Amino acid sequence: MAENVIAIDGPAASGKSTIAGMVADRLGIPYINTGNMYRAVTLHAMRQGLDLSECSEDKLAPVLKQIKLDYVKTASGQYEIMLNGEFPGAKIRTPEVASFVSLVAALPNVRTWLIDKQREFARLGRIVMEGRDIGTVIFPGAQYKFFLTASPEERAKRRLAQDGEAPDGATVESIAKAIAERDLLDSTRKTAPLKKADDAILIDTSGMSIEQVIEHILRYIK
Ligand code: CDP
Repeated sequence: MAENVIAIDGPAASGKSTIAGMVADRLGIPYINTGNMYRAVTLHAMRQGLDLSECSEDKLAPVLKQIKLDYVKTASGQYEIMLNGEFPGAKIRTPEVASFVSLVAALPNVRTWLIDKQREFARLGRIVMEGRDIGTVIFPGAQYKFFLTASPEERAKRRLAQDGEAPDGATVESIAKAIAERDLLDSTRKTAPLKKADDAILIDTSGMSIEQVIEHILRYIK
């Protein structure tokens, strides 16, 4: 089934979500953003009043039991995440959620809980799936694998331009620091670290327009 998957991985704010969504649109196939799953788990844990600066598997285990994640096909034809019957929308994109999500995503029991849910999407047929470990762990046999990066400064500028995702008063420097902290946590964790798959196509999107990146990717995909 993995031969139907187009995997797009890369570090925070590398433009993955925009690109993955638009590539899926052009191909007329579903787009699944796996970061939203980790963000939804984090939001739910925060709502339970847990102090996530001290994260542990024991702390998150009961939380996972309370969560039902669904992907619902919306009028646009795309799949949107639903957390216990609610579309969390922008609530999972806040700076608070972003500050804790990498601690939650490092926990092996959280990742194990999400693996089957992510692999199940292969039943939809051809899909674009975006995250950190899609080409390495979730679908190592994916038909196409892309790893998107951009310079730290460019990524910070992109995040600053995304409404509601930067704290009030944020600067390119402060955001670059927050992104670097998350990248470090994501790439040094023991379970499924952020890493380019050996057979993934590396695209440094610094200085490239969205359209250029999309065209570059589509050239590989028949
Ligand atoms: O959009 P942005 O690049 O900021 O991040 P995201 O794709 O929404 O992912 C948020 C966080 O979830 C990442 O920093 C990782 O800690 C975690 N994540 C992961 O561990 N594995 C994935 N496949 C996707 C996200």
